[in-house]
Amino acid sequence: MTILRPADPDGIAFAAALLRAGRLVAFGTETVYGLGADATDAAAVARLYEAKGRPRFNPLICHYPDADSAFRDVIPTGAARSLAGAFWPGPLTLVLPRAPGCRVALLTSAGLDSLAVRVPAPEAARAMLQAAGRPIAAPSANVSGSVSPTTSAHVLAGLGGRIDAVLDTGACPVGLESTVIDLAGATPVLLRHGGVTLEALTAVIGPVTVAGQGAADGPLRSPGMLTSHYAPCLPLRVEAVSAGVDEALLAFGPPLPGAGATFQLSEGGDVVDAASRLFEGLRWLDAEGTRLGLRGIAAMVVPQEGLGVAVNDRLRRAAAPR
Ligand code: TXA
Ligand code: MG
Repeated sequence: MTILRPADPDGIAFAAALLRAGRLVAFGTETVYGLGADATDAAAVARLYEAKGRPRFNPLICHYPDADSAFRDVIPTGAARSLAGAFWPGPLTLVLPRAPGCRVALLTSAGLDSLAVRVPAPEAARAMLQAAGRPIAAPSANVSGSVSPTTSAHVLAGLGGRIDAVLDTGACPVGLESTVIDLAGATPVLLRHGGVTLEALTAVIGPVTVAGQGAADGPLRSPGMLTSHYAPCLPLRVEAVSAGVDEALLAFGPPLPGAGATFQLSEGGDVVDAASRLFEGLRWLDAEGTRLGLRGIAAMVVPQEGLGVAVNDRLRRAAAPR
C-alpha cells in the first residue's frame, strides 16, 4: 500500500523517517515529482529502479537541502559555485566529479566517477531533505517510459502500490525537468534542456557546449557524452558456465569453481541484491584481477527477469568490444 500524506510538519517528518529506513517516497519538486530513496543505500536504490521498471541503470540525481550539503559529495568548480549561487534552490542539476570517499552508492550514479546534484526549490521538499539528513536520489516518479508526473494523483496512478509513500506538495509549478549541465570536464556541456535556459547559464559562466539533445526525459544520447564513463579495464565475458584460474568471477548464486578471485552478486540468486552490488563488484574484480595478474572477468548468467534485465544490459555493454 502507498500512503499519501500532506506536506505539513508531520507528513514531512514521516517521509524523512521512511527515507532514512531505506523506503521509497515520492515528493514534489518545482519541476516534477521525484521518487526518492536514500542515495547512500544501494539496496534502496536497487528497489527504486525496480519500482520504476527501468530497463537500464541511468545515473540518478542526488537532491540536497542546500549547496553546502551538495558540495560535500562532489568536487565543486568555480563555475559550479557561481551557478549554484545564481540558480539554487531551483531547476538546475550540476554534474561534478565525486568527492574522494563519496558516501553515495555507486549504483546511484550507475558506476560513473561523476555525480549529479541539485537543490530543489520548494520549501517542503528541502525541509524533508534536511530531516532525512542524507542525499536523496530521485528520478521522476513514473514507471519507466511514461510521462513525468506533476501531481500526487499522477504518481499514484503510475506507482500506487509499488512505493511506500507520497508526500503531497501540490502541483509542480515548472512541469519540466531540471536543466542538466556537466561541469566535470574541461568545458561545460549542457546535457539536458530544462527549467533554466542556456542563455541564463551563459550569462553566468560564459560559453556552454550543447550536447545532442532530445526529449527532456530522454536518456543520454551516448556514453561518450559522459566525462568519465566507467568500464572495467580487464576484458569481461558474460554468461560464463566455467571459470579459469586466470579469471576473476562475478558470481550469481553458487559460484563456479576454480576462479582466481570471486565477487558474489547474490548468494541466494536475488536480482535486486545483484543490482545493488553490480558496480561495486565490477570495480573490485577489476582492481583485484589486475593486482593478481588475471586475464579477464567472467560473469555468470543472471536471469533476464525484473532488475536482471538492467544488470544484463550493463554487463553486455561492459563486455562489448571497445
Ligand atoms: O527535475 C528533475 O531533475 C527531476 C526531479 C525529480 O528532480 N529528476 C529527474 O531525474 O529528471 P531523471 O533520473 O529522470 O533524470 C536524470 C538526468 C538523466 O538525463 C541522467 O542521464 C542525468 O540526469 N545524469 C544523472 N547523473 C549523471 C551523471 N553523473 N553524468 C551525466 N548525466 C547524469
Ligand atoms: Mg525521468
